Amino acid sequence: MTEARATRVLIAGCGDLGGRLGTTLARTGHRVWGLRRRVENLPAELEPIAGDLSAPDSLPSLPEVDIVAYTAAADGFSDEAYRSAYVEGVRTLLTALKRPPERWLHVGSTSVYTQSDGVEVDESSPTSPEQFAGLRLLEGERLLFEAAEERGFRAVVVRFAGIYGPGRTRLLDTIRQGQATCFEPPVWTNRIHVEDCVGVLDHLGKLVTPEPIYLGVDSEPALDGEVKRWLARRLDLPDPPVGQPSERARRLRSSKRCSNRLLLDSGYEFRYPDFRTGYGALIEDLPA
Ligand SMILES: NC(=O)c1ccc[n+]([C@@H]2O[C@H](COP(=O)([O-])OP(=O)(O)OC[C@H]3O[C@@H](n4cnc5c(N)ncnc54)[C@H](OP(=O)(O)O)[C@@H]3O)[C@@H](O)[C@H]2O)c1
Repeated sequence: MTEARATRVLIAGCGDLGGRLGTTLARTGHRVWGLRRRVENLPAELEPIAGDLSAPDSLPSLPEVDIVAYTAAADGFSDEAYRSAYVEGVRTLLTALKRPPERWLHVGSTSVYTQSDGVEVDESSPTSPEQFAGLRLLEGERLLFEAAEERGFRAVVVRFAGIYGPGRTRLLDTIRQGQATCFEPPVWTNRIHVEDCVGVLDHLGKLVTPEPIYLGVDSEPALDGEVKRWLARRLDLPDPPVGQPSERARRLRSSKRCSNRLLLDSGYEFRYPDFRTGYGALIEDLPA
């Protein structure tokens, strides 16, 4: 992914985000392999590697690559699924690679921050999740950083907030179906457009001396009601009603304002710096 030479990139757990990243890289002259179980779903520009990251024996001999992008997602919302995707998958891939890459770009999540008082959060903020999801994500990050230290490669974790974009329209759909609720008390939310996720990973692949961790969020944390009301008005729909989140949502929900200062200082320029530009573009492209 450096400007100077074409690199060899392995995208592990190559689904929506991985496929988009792979396509972008392949179209700019890099050689890209996509590893997943159902390789028939890979974009045509990628070289397929069929394998299951939770079953070491299923992996074929892997190519030597300069960059690994780890974009696997859990199959479901359970401790077992999270452990498999975010811990065991990392361990399996580290073992399967005969030569470590120069750089491992790792997709993480801002859900490791459980702050619920609307405080500003950055890369140095404490992470103390109690639920399995955050615990397994952090366990995978730690495993990766230990391996990077031991085997002498650079690991860069990007903790993305809620990803939206084409094909990722859950919030928009709930507004259109009249099923959204503006929470009371309101909660701070953070997000990033999927094209910026690709842009950020591409950028961090090229950066000469990246930091170990970045928050992958746009430039505007926003209260959930503000986003939902803006979307409804943009769609010419009535404001969603005010209501309480369910007990389960309340337990899982944080309220924090994630800062992308480190990413901006590294030179990344957002295509969609806030929810208005990102969702605005998405709504323009909605079928009539
Ligand atoms: N959704 C969000 O808002 C959000 C926010 C922050 C971070 N993230 C993170 O972003 C990353 C990418 O998400 P995404 O939307 O691109 O997910 P996705 O479309 O579901 O892609 C993940 C891919 O991983 C592959 N995979 C899962 N288990 C595997 C295994 N055992 N072996 C090999 N491949 C496996 C799956 O392909 P096969 O089934 O074919 O194997 C799947 O296509 C995930 O780490 C997710 O946690 C998402």
